[in-house]
Amino acid sequence: MLVIADKCPEISVNVVDKNAERIKRWNDKDFKNIPVFEPNLIPILKRTRDRNLFFSTNVSKEIQLADIVFICVNTPTKLEGLGSGRASDLKWIKLCAKEIEKYSEGDTIVVEKSTVPVKTAELIKQILKSPQNSSSSIPKNFSVLSNPEFLSEGNAIRDLLYPDRILIGGEDKKSIDLLSSVYEKWVAKEKIIKTNLWSSELSKLTANAFLAQRISSINSISAVCEVTGADIKEVSRSVGGDSRIGDKFLSAGPGFGGSCFKKDLLNLTYLCEHYNLNEVAAYWNSVLEINNWQQKRISKEVFEKLCKNASNKKISILGFSFKANTNDTRDSPSINICINLIEQGAFLNIHDPKVTEDEIKNAFASYFEDIKQLNNNDKPPKFDDHWLFNADLNKSVKNADAILILTEWEEYKEIDWDKISKLTKKAAWVFDTRLIVDNDKILKTNLNFWCLGKKNSFE
Ligand code: UGA
Repeated sequence: MLVIADKCPEISVNVVDKNAERIKRWNDKDFKNIPVFEPNLIPILKRTRDRNLFFSTNVSKEIQLADIVFICVNTPTKLEGLGSGRASDLKWIKLCAKEIEKYSEGDTIVVEKSTVPVKTAELIKQILKSPQNSSSSIPKNFSVLSNPEFLSEGNAIRDLLYPDRILIGGEDKKSIDLLSSVYEKWVAKEKIIKTNLWSSELSKLTANAFLAQRISSINSISAVCEVTGADIKEVSRSVGGDSRIGDKFLSAGPGFGGSCFKKDLLNLTYLCEHYNLNEVAAYWNSVLEINNWQQKRISKEVFEKLCKNASNKKISILGFSFKANTNDTRDSPSINICINLIEQGAFLNIHDPKVTEDEIKNAFASYFEDIKQLNNNDKPPKFDDHWLFNADLNKSVKNADAILILTEWEEYKEIDWDKISKLTKKAAWVFDTRLIVDNDKILKTNLNFWCLGKKNSFE
């Protein structure tokens, strides 16, 4: 919405949410209090806020005035009922559709921006057809479009300004063209793909499934490298040099995190099973299995290197966000890996340049809350005594038995390992799951080193 407001000053863009606290933060004069960290966001916000971009909690009024309503709510994995642990929870989508039916007047284009299961537009259409005690007597007319988002966090502004493509699915040409005309203000017409509703919904899930599949593919090969003496960086480069394969999304790591890939893969497998396409479901589920396995095997590697005794070992965790340049921790690989290590008896000192102590606490709490709901198990383990947050990198590695790099933050690439080796315990281990440590430099210290996707870790 920020980029639409920037590129289309003649359009009034109104972002509404029921969460007053969030809206207050988006309106905060101090730009440090904006609720998300995203590079290059603030300058655009400064240009557009209160010019033609407004944040408020006045949901009914803004729906009533709008020609186009974008539904941008969360669609998390369901934790109870039919499809629990797999299907997306559409309760927020349904609520939005009900409110749109209730408050809109005249012609309204309703756009699915949230990532949704295939056929969600059908559900929205049905709700829009059922009157919701509207206070207005002005007739209502709806057209539902699917317009999925392909931005990735940390690169959101660049992805929005220079998208590979814009996808608009729908049935009504006039509405499709109207939405297209908004994007045409800064995106070339050839990049705007117009499809039917179901192709658009399915393409979004498929794009994320393909991206996740590439990561699982390269991660599976990283394990082969470790036993054969091949080097995963060299393999990635060689494989990605084939223009049919391409070089993007071939970085091995601790597995994909974020709010999208896992959820969308679960969604896709659920859909396939619903249509009795069990082999297809199993195929996509294996992408998730490799992802879980990669995280488990990293924890196992740490455990093995600490002589199979993690009890009271101090491990310094570098990076808690699911990737660099974001403070988002949803489904971050760090969550699973930290929990595995704590379960082995380790004590963790967690550092992240952008994630706060409270956010880490919430991430662990919601992990256990999900487990509790899914397994009907009401005893979350006592957990908070087993980790500390430290905003100072040097302090966080003090007396560490091991350092585990889990996010590829720029500042971790510049670590002076010689200096760090004087702060940790003698001959501490460094585990690099993001392949960012300069091997030659660390070799000169007395640190032990293990790097994902390479055979020769050294002691
Ligand atoms: C992803 C997609 O890339 C976007 O196109 C999509 O719009 C978005 O989901 C969504 O559906 O909302 P995002 O989750 O923000 O974007 O981040 P990615 O850059 O895709 O990274 C996802 C995870 O994969 C991260 O944990 C990252 O570290 C990992 N990754 C990525 C790798 O391990 N290796 C790679 O080569 C690339």
